[in-house]
Amino acid sequence: MRSSVSAIILAAGKGTRMKSDYAKVLHEVFYRPMIHHVLDAVQALALAKNIVVTGYKRQEVEKVLQGYDVVSAPQEEQLGTGHAVLAAEQFVARSKTATVLILCGDTPLIRPETLGRMLDEHCSGGAVLTVMTTLVADPTNYGRIVTDDQGRLLAIVEEKDATPEIRAIKEINAGIYCVSSDFLFNALLKVDRNNKQSEVYLTDIVAIAVNSDYQVSRFSCEDSLEVLGVNSRIELAEAHACLQNRRNRSLMLSGVTLLRPETIAIEHSVEIGRDTVIHPHVYIGGSSRIGSNCVIESFTQIKDSVIGSGATIGSHSSINNREIDEGLQIGPHTVYI
Ligand code: UD1
Ligand code: MG
Repeated sequence: MRSSVSAIILAAGKGTRMKSDYAKVLHEVFYRPMIHHVLDAVQALALAKNIVVTGYKRQEVEKVLQGYDVVSAPQEEQLGTGHAVLAAEQFVARSKTATVLILCGDTPLIRPETLGRMLDEHCSGGAVLTVMTTLVADPTNYGRIVTDDQGRLLAIVEEKDATPEIRAIKEINAGIYCVSSDFLFNALLKVDRNNKQSEVYLTDIVAIAVNSDYQVSRFSCEDSLEVLGVNSRIELAEAHACLQNRRNRSLMLSGVTLLRPETIAIEHSVEIGRDTVIHPHVYIGGSSRIGSNCVIESFTQIKDSVIGSGATIGSHSSINNREIDEGLQIGPHTVYI
């Protein structure tokens, strides 16, 4: 089934609200460019083709795409999310895929399992379009989900175009869609730029489908954090903290003790053996491997190093590119550069 699906990942926008000289999707979340997290989730689905729409700072964005099985579709001018999807049209046509999964490069917390479930639901139902939605306490800046009195989806209205009543809606558009390729590119031809931002809104295809009596579904994502859209440095920090939290929880579940885990930063690439105890305010990164029964004391940084089982690394140490023998006791304030 997945062989009839292509993914379009929107990554051409400037990210004005980041107040940055760099493209938004290049900002690091949990030690990697934001877009890598999205690409990892998409890659796990093994789709026919993955298309990344690039525009603002295109060369720089394309550089971080290396190593991924993706094609870059240029969007010369950034005229909105609908316009960005149109930039991918010829690539979808060439791949001859009947279904497109659309997502944004600025939602780094999305899990492949959630995308997979959404795709399965979409492909086994009869809808031309499935929109991922979620409920949030503060819907500011998101597109709002407008439904009729029977709860059927009618339209998505962007914050800037919304009346106070619509702004009060707490169900928001996650920015992830499964859609029939034929319907998508036909509908986009009908979308105008008649809105407060003078942009071609991808979200307008919902009302177009509804008005043509096509079936439109919504897939509700229970964990709203998973679809957090990073638009500012505040959300960047939230996304980082969430990924660190996921990583630390999985380490604890595998038998590693973390004291005050919210202060501990351990990159994904690091391996740690069971019964090792990590004290507060520790960073471990790069290709480090920590054995079992080790103690890593507070304010210590370890990068690209191997720590043998049973070793203790004293507090305030900095260990780079070293191998520490099993059972060794390294005193506090040790610096190996
Ligand atoms: C968009 C949705 C909103 C949704 C939110 C979810 C529209 C009109 N609005 O709003 O309903 O709640 O995402 O996070 O779709 N991009 C391009 N080219 C462009 C414009 C944008 O590639 O011309 C890319 C951006 O790089 C970004 C993504 O599209 O990755 C979304 O753009 P953004 O400006 O963040 O849209 P939002 O205002 O967040
Ligand atoms: Mg956004």
